[in-house]
Amino acid sequence: MNPSTSLPDAKLAPQADSSVLQIWGGHPLHGHVKISGAKNSALVIMAGALLCSGDCHIRNVPLLADVEKMGQVLSALGVRVSHQGDILDINASNITTSKAPYELVTQLRASFFAIGSILARLGVAQMPLPGGCAIGARPVDLHVRGLQAMGAEVQIEHGICNAYVPGGGRLKGAKIYLDTPSVGATETLMMAATLADGETIIENAAREPEVADLANFCNAMGAKIHGAGTSIITIVGVPQLHSVDYSIIPDRIETGTFLVAGAITRSEILLSPVVPDHLIPVIAKLREIGVPIIEEGPDCLRLLPAETLKATYIETMPHPGFPTDMQAPFMALLTLAEGDSIINESVFENRLRHASELNRLGADIRVKGNAAFVRGVPMLSGAPVIGTDLRASAALVLAGLAAEGQTTFQGLHHLDRGYDRLDLKLLQLGAKIKRVQEVVTPGVTSNGSTPPVTIST
Ligand code: EPZ
Repeated sequence: MNPSTSLPDAKLAPQADSSVLQIWGGHPLHGHVKISGAKNSALVIMAGALLCSGDCHIRNVPLLADVEKMGQVLSALGVRVSHQGDILDINASNITTSKAPYELVTQLRASFFAIGSILARLGVAQMPLPGGCAIGARPVDLHVRGLQAMGAEVQIEHGICNAYVPGGGRLKGAKIYLDTPSVGATETLMMAATLADGETIIENAAREPEVADLANFCNAMGAKIHGAGTSIITIVGVPQLHSVDYSIIPDRIETGTFLVAGAITRSEILLSPVVPDHLIPVIAKLREIGVPIIEEGPDCLRLLPAETLKATYIETMPHPGFPTDMQAPFMALLTLAEGDSIINESVFENRLRHASELNRLGADIRVKGNAAFVRGVPMLSGAPVIGTDLRASAALVLAGLAAEGQTTFQGLHHLDRGYDRLDLKLLQLGAKIKRVQEVVTPGVTSNGSTPPVTIST
């Protein structure tokens, strides 16, 4: 296997800057990409660290704006946080307030999940509502109802979720059924139950690998959680949790994103470390589309060029179904498939907004309700495009890698939130991609310069 590439220890771009990505399409990728730790594990495990009154040493943490922001939320609660490279050290022995900062929580949905750990530790929590975002309303009713079932009083007023345990005691174990297998609600309630009195059973729980990762993290601190990764999770409360040294699982959605990057550019690339079991629907769907994927060893995938891309049907589902976070990247891929594909987004009610931007690149997509009808076209052509959310932004970058000519992508604040140096990793795979400061006026092409070999930031 090619030696794994080590990324320069890039700093996160300042979020307010007006950087854009310029992409010159039509260049195949090659080599090996190193997959970072899972964003959706890192964020919730940071919330889980609040349960512990000792030191949490967390490894394989991705370099993301969202991780920085979550660190700021924890610091605002009086928690000691230090972040060096992919190591996070968190000590929540002295939480000084139960009131999370409004302006930060409303920007970062995952921070709301901390209501479970704060309530479990302090018996009281004031957590701003996370608010909706580009992909849907994203209510928190399942989180609230579960906490109420565990004995918490919860009132929502002025955009704040005020929760407390009457009499200042501990939460009580309860049997909770989730109307929908919500990842966040499962994680919030699992954290709340680790320090509750008695046993909690969560039925119709989310089965995502990140839920199991959180459970493994909590169990490494001395929690008693069984069944995580299945739809019935049992938690027996314990008095307190102890220090831990824990490594986060690889990011299956970043892996899927790079698999699509290789497929859309008809490339051969190596990806590691990966957990193939976390990617079963993604690998199966890529193979169905005609993309050869070989499992090389326990944690490495080799993707080979597809001869043709075949149209298919995708319906997003809770895990182990096809992940909603891979819907946008797959839509980009299917714009170049032979035939008509249908994509049904059944998890979020507003997660097809990338279709119109893909059409700007020459795709032929019609959206009706939660379904997208994608008619394959022989080629895409570069254009200025704007990202509306994290995975939509990834989809546009992937499409730009295949589009003829130059694509200018605006919306790096989305991308930098949830992907660890995506542009740097693509550059190292041979993509012609450049992060530039100035905002390119849409429709005005650059001076036709040849594709760059370095990134200017
Ligand atoms: C998590 O969001 C992920 N985020 C999302 O990833 C992911 O798309 C989603 O799970 C589904 O897999 C993090 O882990 C930080 P849900 P979450 O609760 O927990 C409804 C990305 O791009 N619902 O499983 O917010 C909800 O409206 C992000 O990395 C309720 O009705 O998702 C949605 O329709 C995007 N009431 C469905 O459940 C509730 O109380 C699934 O949402 C909670 C959720």
